[in-house]
Amino acid sequence: MSRILAIETSCDETAIAIVEFSGSQRNPKIKILSNIISSQVKLHAKYGGVVPNLAKREHQRNLVPVLLQALKEADLIKPQTQSENKTTINKLRAILDREPELFKRFLKKIISLETPEVDVIAVTHGPGLAPALWAGVNFAKALSYLWNKPLVPVNHMAGHLYSPLLDAKSHELKSVKFPALALLVSGGHTELVLMSGHGKFKVIGETLDDAAGEAFDKVARILGLKYPGGPEISRLADQAKFDFNAAEDGLHPVKLPRPVINSQNYNFSFSGLKTAVLYLTRDLGEEKTKKLRFAVAKEFQDAVVDVLISKTIRAAREYKIKTILLGGGVAANKLLRKRMAEEIEKKLPAINYWLPALFMTGDNAPMIALAAYFMRKKKAPKQIGADANLKF
Ligand code: KG4
Ligand code: ZN
Repeated sequence: MSRILAIETSCDETAIAIVEFSGSQRNPKIKILSNIISSQVKLHAKYGGVVPNLAKREHQRNLVPVLLQALKEADLIKPQTQSENKTTINKLRAILDREPELFKRFLKKIISLETPEVDVIAVTHGPGLAPALWAGVNFAKALSYLWNKPLVPVNHMAGHLYSPLLDAKSHELKSVKFPALALLVSGGHTELVLMSGHGKFKVIGETLDDAAGEAFDKVARILGLKYPGGPEISRLADQAKFDFNAAEDGLHPVKLPRPVINSQNYNFSFSGLKTAVLYLTRDLGEEKTKKLRFAVAKEFQDAVVDVLISKTIRAAREYKIKTILLGGGVAANKLLRKRMAEEIEKKLPAINYWLPALFMTGDNAPMIALAAYFMRKKKAPKQIGADANLKF
């Protein structure tokens, strides 16, 4: 049995989970002992997007209380017996040199705790916002030093990739047959990843400009909706009627392009789609845009999903894929989930596919624990640091 304490701070969520793996290595039982998320979404919403230094400040404030709660829920807080010594404090001060506020909280609440019964500390070290990532990485380093536990750096996108494999009800892992293909769609990334084995990844396509989630956020802004835009657009699109077509105003039906859908590679491009929405709303004017916002949201969502699904299916055929995975914040999108299921069942019925549980779509720490588990045999680098542009 092993317990992984996972820390995720790549963007605007401070997330810590403790996940227990028991049973055989091939067929482990997985139990999420605790899963705590402190979201900064409301704070950043005022600015229409995530402000990196604000995110870092919030992580510094939130990491200690989130850890305490995660330990408490997992029943891993033990009465204090350790005595503090000067060398330990100096070493911790050096590790948290650039996070002074975090260091203060660490001294007050963490240093006196009895070492909890966890085996590994896993932390997201990229990609993401550098200041936000560093807060999590340095916190994890401090814990790893204080508790003398191995530290495993995890690629955030590997977390999203592995997120659909947890069957939260049965506590078991879903099986993956290789080659597998993952469609990863988040606020910062859109990529198709070919997997020839665990930890063996090759990006075969990615966005040339905006990520899918970013496009949702930008179009939401154009339509005067709040951040994050994905859920807002989806909610509006659900209310659109098929026969909307603006007939009563004598307007054209709302029609948007499906960028690069027919290109021979597996890359994506969403910035032109966003610009198309901008021009469309400009042409319509404020009043008509307001009337047509349901139709615009629906057509935009349809366009994004059409491109994502079409390229996924084509790549699955070309690479003779056996399992398809979906991950990332945009994987919460109802239409994307529905269309993915329908198209695979219709066009590639021999392929099994796994969609993540909704609580595993946005940024979370259980997915980091899961990725750490699958990649445990990989050698960790000597120096662990944050890498905002970390690649697979
Ligand atoms: O994975 P994630 O939480 O953070 C990153 O790693 O970027 O993804 C966040 C993105 C945001 O752009 C948000 O608008 C989008 O996921 N998103 C959605 C939905 N829920 C969240 N996009 C479309 N439909 C949704 N229901
Ligand atoms: Zn993410």
